[in-house]
Amino acid sequence: MAGYWVVAAADLELLAQAIFASAGTPDAIAHHVARHLVRANLSGHDSHGVLRIPQYVQFIDEGMIRPAAEPRVLREHGATALLSAERGFGQYSTSVALDLAIRKAEAFGVGLVTVRQGNHIGRVGEYTEAAARRGFAAQVFGGTAGARVRPAAPFGAAGTAFGTNPFSVGVPTSGDDPVLVDFATTVLAEGKLRIYRVKQEELPPDVIVDSEGKPSVDVEDFYSRGGMLKPIAAHKGSGLSLATALLGGLAAIGEDNPSSNGTAPQPPPEGGRDRTGGIFLLVINPGAFGDADAYRETVSRTVGAIKATPPAPGVEEVLIPGEPEFRARAARGREGIALPEGTWDELGAVAHRFGLALPVTRRG
Ligand SMILES: NC(=O)c1ccc[n+]([C@@H]2O[C@H](COP(=O)([O-])OP(=O)(O)OC[C@H]3O[C@@H](n4cnc5c(N)ncnc54)[C@H](O)[C@@H]3O)[C@@H](O)[C@H]2O)c1
Repeated sequence: MAGYWVVAAADLELLAQAIFASAGTPDAIAHHVARHLVRANLSGHDSHGVLRIPQYVQFIDEGMIRPAAEPRVLREHGATALLSAERGFGQYSTSVALDLAIRKAEAFGVGLVTVRQGNHIGRVGEYTEAAARRGFAAQVFGGTAGARVRPAAPFGAAGTAFGTNPFSVGVPTSGDDPVLVDFATTVLAEGKLRIYRVKQEELPPDVIVDSEGKPSVDVEDFYSRGGMLKPIAAHKGSGLSLATALLGGLAAIGEDNPSSNGTAPQPPPEGGRDRTGGIFLLVINPGAFGDADAYRETVSRTVGAIKATPPAPGVEEVLIPGEPEFRARAARGREGIALPEGTWDELGAVAHRFGLALPVTRRG
């Protein structure tokens, strides 16, 4: 089996930043995207970490990502706004949108901002966590659905019409960490398939189907032969996925070719407005509904009651959403980030192209 290289988070972030800067990204944006990716690794979601760097550099080469683009406000009225990401880095445009939604929630009690013309937005929990750490409840998702949309099949279908359509909610507590619900509406996030591919491992059952809709555990059925990801929780996950696309689609009214959030390049448009999608950020100020401290206190007590439920047989501890990520962050912050050899080789090739030295690593 392939091995791992362990690298310190700070070193990895410097490398990521230098690569993006070498590819034409202004320093502030390069720093922002690098930090987001490494925090995804730290949080235990390697699927949305530095593994993306070669793909993003390729997208810059192909003109899909415009690295210096600044988001632009297209519409703004009271608590709502529509931004265009101008095909810039999704991590950056979504953070700009979040800051705007937070300012609106401070002023109006809620802020609802949607974003079009974006790229991959990374680990969606990054945004809801940031809002929750500032005392706001937040719901953020990115969805795409409709004609020629890949890579997920709606429930009951043997063809694709959904993106992986991530969904996230963050809620502040009176303790150190928020509650953080954050997942793809497909059984596995597409990035997690990449890790199976890099490690040349078989997929678990019930994650993908092949191009005819038959179950498969061969990741190449997905990447090379038209296979599809399945939605979580059968018809219910399929419904949730559709909801993210239709509400995200508030960003795409009147657009001929709504962008996905860049998880997979979408084929060029043909014909009518038969697909939709975008990024949706709703930020809520608990203080608009009552005493904000009392709300956070109740959230913490509720979480405590949930954690006090007896674990099912074979389960060590009942966890609250967000706990696995915060624990991973503490451990990986201490011990370093273990990257599969394949990921490290791909990063090395990009670094080499720009004449950048790789940081010190040790065998994992
Ligand atoms: N930008 C995009 O297009 C895109 C698309 C898909 C996914 N993503 C991101 O990929 C990441 C991974 O998604 P995923 O679907 O693989 O997530 P996952 O299956 O690992 O689920 C993560 C969620 O489940 C919670 N969780 C995990 N174990 C738990 C337990 N034992 N008890 C209670 N809660 C538990 C986590 O705290 C988190 O909220 C997410 O950060 C998501 O935002 C992004």
